Amino acid sequence: MTNKPPITGEFPLTRMRRNRADDWSRRLISESRLSVDDLIWPMFVIEGENKSEPVSSMPGVERLSVDRLVAQAGEAEALGIPAIAIFPNTDAKLKTSDAKEAVNPDNLVCRAVRAIKEKHSGVGIICDVALDPYNSDGHDGLVRDGKILNDETVEVLCQQSIMQARAGCDIIAPSDMMDGRIKAIREALDGEGFQHVRIVSYAAKYASAFYGPFRDAVGSGGALKGDKKTYQMDSANTDEALREVAMDIREGADMVMVKPGMPYLDIIHRIKDTFAMPTLAFQVSGEYAMVQAASANGWLDHDAVMMESLMAFKRAGADAVLTYFAPKAARLLQNT
Ligand code: PBG
Repeated sequence: MTNKPPITGEFPLTRMRRNRADDWSRRLISESRLSVDDLIWPMFVIEGENKSEPVSSMPGVERLSVDRLVAQAGEAEALGIPAIAIFPNTDAKLKTSDAKEAVNPDNLVCRAVRAIKEKHSGVGIICDVALDPYNSDGHDGLVRDGKILNDETVEVLCQQSIMQARAGCDIIAPSDMMDGRIKAIREALDGEGFQHVRIVSYAAKYASAFYGPFRDAVGSGGALKGDKKTYQMDSANTDEALREVAMDIREGADMVMVKPGMPYLDIIHRIKDTFAMPTLAFQVSGEYAMVQAASANGWLDHDAVMMESLMAFKRAGADAVLTYFAPKAARLLQNT
């Protein structure tokens, strides 16, 4: 990325179409590249054995039992996708107001991480840190008298991070938007000897309606009481995103994330420009669902729109993209 003003020529000495005239010269001057190395594949895990369930609002995405998830992680590794992100669909019976299943060392996520690490140690594993899969309120934090508690939640998040690190998780990804959690989690991990475990902070995470299909996928949508506007960001704000990122960098984040993706490309661009940090984008469930629905109707060319949307992230300055399109895009990029 450069902020220098371009020197422009004048017609007819300059003809912009000259460089675009052939495929080879278009390739030669292309400014952004998308590669398999830029992809992170989010996956959903359920209880059971040899089981898969379609997610109705995300055609093409399935929730998988641990054994099948291991196979899918193997597919990611074979495709050269550097990392996967695992999200649990927790049994409703295990959801409580203290979200204690979040810190159970044998919960679904921890079992999935251990099983994947055993067979496919070459693929990086990212685990969300937040209480919404385990909370009977569907919120990312503990709730008392209708309020989301900050500091009490952070204590549980630290325990959750340690459990996930013990299971073998490579990247802890706090998605909860509580204040001060990056520093607290970094110190908690270091205190347990997990200095090598990375933290990617969902630093600029907006209170977005684009998460709807994800909440179906993990089964937190029905449980959610109210909305997440007291902790996730207001879609009207950009300066606030810079402050969030600045704080998370000081608190020890190794990478930062912007979420959702395509409606927030301006945020990605500003963050990358300002901080020069490894910056990830999350092309969320609603963005995926829109492309799937429109192309199923024959209104959009699926593969072309998918690749254009992924390239847009690279152009905006993202280093990598969490996307449910990861396996399809990887195959297209490798012509397999
Ligand atoms: C939960 C979490 C959410 C997503 C990732 N982690 C949903 C939410 O905050 O309500 C959304 C991902 C997607 O929509 O694809 N903390």
